[in-house]
Amino acid sequence: MTSMSQFVSMTVYEDSRRHTLMEQSTRQALFKQAREWVLEAGRTIREKIDDPLVIDTKSNENDLVTTMDKETEQFFASKIKGKYPGHLLFGEEGYGDKIESLDGTIWIVDPIDGTMNFVHQKRNFAISIGIYHDGIGEIGLIYDVMGDVLYHAQRNSGAYKNNQQLKQLSFSVDLRESILGLNHFWLCENSLVDERVMQRLVRTVRGTRSTGSAALEMAYVAEGVFDGYLAMRLSPWDIAAGMVIINEVGGVTTDRHGHPINLLEKTSLVTCNKQIQSTILKEFLEKGKK
Ligand code: IPD
Ligand code: CA
Ligand code: CA
Repeated sequence: MTSMSQFVSMTVYEDSRRHTLMEQSTRQALFKQAREWVLEAGRTIREKIDDPLVIDTKSNENDLVTTMDKETEQFFASKIKGKYPGHLLFGEEGYGDKIESLDGTIWIVDPIDGTMNFVHQKRNFAISIGIYHDGIGEIGLIYDVMGDVLYHAQRNSGAYKNNQQLKQLSFSVDLRESILGLNHFWLCENSLVDERVMQRLVRTVRGTRSTGSAALEMAYVAEGVFDGYLAMRLSPWDIAAGMVIINEVGGVTTDRHGHPINLLEKTSLVTCNKQIQSTILKEFLEKGKK
C-alpha cells in the first residue's frame, strides 16, 4: 500500500528535471497572502449571511449553488490573477482555468464547501484552498467561516488550528474505539461497495458522523476528533487542502483501493489515522468491493 507521502516523494525524485520543490520563503509568503484573502472572504460571507439568497441547482436538485459560492470564487480569481498572473486556478464554479495537468502552481479552490449546510443551516461550511506546485501539496487552508476557525498547514511545517499546532495523530487507535466521518449513502445500495459490509463497519466502530462538508471532515481527522473519513465521490477542490493538512499530522489519504489520489479526477476517498487504514481497506472496502 502506498501512502500519500510516499507517493509525493516518488513523484519528486523519479523525475527531478520536471518537478521543482517550492522554496520555503516563497511558500511562506504565499501562505500569508492566501490566509489574508481567505479571512477577508470569510468576513464578507459572515456580513452577508442573512441576505436573501439566489439558489440554483447543478447536477441534481440537491446539488445547490448560490450567488455567494460564485461571488466568493470570483473574489479569489481576481485576487490570484491580479497578484500571481502565472499561477493557475482550479475552482468548482468555473471562474478558473481549464486544468489538464498539475504542472505549475495551482490554487485548488472550493469557495463554499458544504453549500447545503450554508443554505439550510447557515453554518458548518468552509472555504477550502489547496496550493500545489508541480503536483506537490504546499499549502492547505480550511476555514470554518461561521466558527471563525482556520485549519492550515504548509508542507513540512506542521498543521495548525488557528495558531495552535495540531498534534501528530495517535499511534494507538483501535478501530472499535474510533469515530468515522461517513456519508450515509455508503449504507444504501450503491455501485461501489456491498452496503451490508459497510453496515458491519458502522457496527464495528464506536460511532459515525456526517458533517456535510468534506473539507471540515478532513480537518476533523487532522485534529484527531475523527479517526477517519470515507467518501464515495469527491472533487479535487473538496480534498486538496485537507490532504496537505492531514499529511502534516501523519495521517494517510488514498482512494478506496488504497491508491494515491489523482487530483485531476473525481475520486473516492479514505483519509485516516495510519493505525486503522489497512483494516478499513482490507476488511471492509476490499471485501465488499463490487
Ligand atoms: C459537497 C460537500 C459534501 C460532500 C459532497 C460535496 P459542496 O461539496 O463536501 O460533504 O458529501 O460530495 O460535493 O457541493 O457543498 O461544495
Ligand atoms: Ca465541495
Ligand atoms: Ca462548493
